[in-house]
Amino acid sequence: MSTTGSETPGSDELNPMTDTGSGVLRTKDIETVLSQADDEDDAHPGLRKRLKARDLMGFGVGIVIGTGIFTLTGVEAKNHAGPAIVVSFAIAGVVSMLAALCYAELAAAVPTAGSSYTYAYTTIGELVAWVIAWDLILEFALGSAVVARGWSGYLQDSLGLPTSVFGEDSVVNVGAVLIVVVLGAVAAVGVRESAWVTNALVVVKVAVCLFVIVAGVFFLKAANLAPFLPAGRPAEDDVSGLKQPLWEAVSGVQPTAFGIGGVLIAAAVVFFAYSGFEAVANLGEETEDPARDMPRGLIGTLALCTLLYLGVCFVLTGMVDYRDLSEGAPISDAFHQVGLGWAGFLIGLAAVAGLSSVILVEIVALGRIGYALARDGLLPPAVGAIHPTYRTPFRFTVGITALIAVFAAFIPLATLAEMVSIGTLFAFFVVAIAVLVLRRTKPDMERPFRTPLVPLVPLLAAASCVGLMTFLAVETWLRFLVWLLVGLLIYFGYGRTHSRLAVDRAADRAVDRADV
Ligand code: ALA
Repeated sequence: MSTTGSETPGSDELNPMTDTGSGVLRTKDIETVLSQADDEDDAHPGLRKRLKARDLMGFGVGIVIGTGIFTLTGVEAKNHAGPAIVVSFAIAGVVSMLAALCYAELAAAVPTAGSSYTYAYTTIGELVAWVIAWDLILEFALGSAVVARGWSGYLQDSLGLPTSVFGEDSVVNVGAVLIVVVLGAVAAVGVRESAWVTNALVVVKVAVCLFVIVAGVFFLKAANLAPFLPAGRPAEDDVSGLKQPLWEAVSGVQPTAFGIGGVLIAAAVVFFAYSGFEAVANLGEETEDPARDMPRGLIGTLALCTLLYLGVCFVLTGMVDYRDLSEGAPISDAFHQVGLGWAGFLIGLAAVAGLSSVILVEIVALGRIGYALARDGLLPPAVGAIHPTYRTPFRFTVGITALIAVFAAFIPLATLAEMVSIGTLFAFFVVAIAVLVLRRTKPDMERPFRTPLVPLVPLLAAASCVGLMTFLAVETWLRFLVWLLVGLLIYFGYGRTHSRLAVDRAADRAVDRADV
């Protein structure tokens, strides 16, 4: 991302675009986008092409491991899957891996900072690109609210703070608001974690998972793991109507809890735990050899996280009866329950540190998205303007931080996580389709990494994403549709006529007319 020399994104000279297609289907030209990235390389030689696959994995694991494994595991095992939560995580992991194989082809072929937004802009068209970006805003904004609530739960558990203002029992989750405001301010003034702090926090999170697996094994009780898949039973009253999964509402099947249906509901919700890995694809421009390193970075991140997640889920539900799991800080609480209080305390502190890092990375990523959208004319230039002193998209960062704080204050963690899951699954669906579209429309484009077994893998990825989405609640679908509708209103009210492509095209037409 270029932030040099321009106060508003719209005045950035390093943004030539060639458009093809027309109207909402107009696309950026891939070669132009790539040469733009190269131009920016020349402008910032010190920042470029320094990352290798292991750096990408470090970044990926840093953003992926968070509240999903630390908190949702307990919530979903207790309410939907029992010990079979490990199966839910495995299903979500397989779907993510299919999506990663699609991401990897595009990330290696179009190694730019815009990730799925740029992919869609170069393949399907401007409207879909905008929808993807709007969706990414949902993913990162609500994702950081989820992580903030998880942070608050672990802080409460570690320090014995009042549950009325910290954790999931609070009316206004003051702890979550506090951490969002502090880290939003840090992101707005452009303070970044130093590389060693980031790396240390990644090590801390991986170490916590390994510790849980290795130490927890000594406290496994076979009785806790039986029955492994609690039998399905009619759902309680509150799971009818808007709270039941879409497929049950559509098919008229009696709502159930647990059983196979419960495992699939939990899989759709804990999909959240894998969200964020696609941010690795944003680093394409800074990667030494994107063709080699990007697929390894993406797939390696997912493989490592999946293994750790499965181990933690198995051990956690083996240590404590799933009905007794805490919904606020399940991992540290499990160690308290087996009499290893000191370990529970240390895990709590490590979680608090590790989760902070996820929130900061997500808020910084949101700033970049806001900047990119304003640079391309899809948001007003003033919204994504770079602050003269801090050199950050200050206004966008402050505005989105305020929004995140409101979400984090009032909306339960699992509800927010469902929203992130649906948004992420939808984005992955679009990326899988983009791989297929691009294979047809740009068959000769250089593809350093090719998704295997096309069209099977992209079709499986797309179908499994939609399949998992149907296990999310009707109300989650409605909220998601409202979010998309607001996005469409913004696009048709502003972006369609103000986009750089639209403006450049109008200018070209004016020149053509003058020539005639
Ligand atoms: N995947 C990240 C988490 O689990 C966002 O917190």
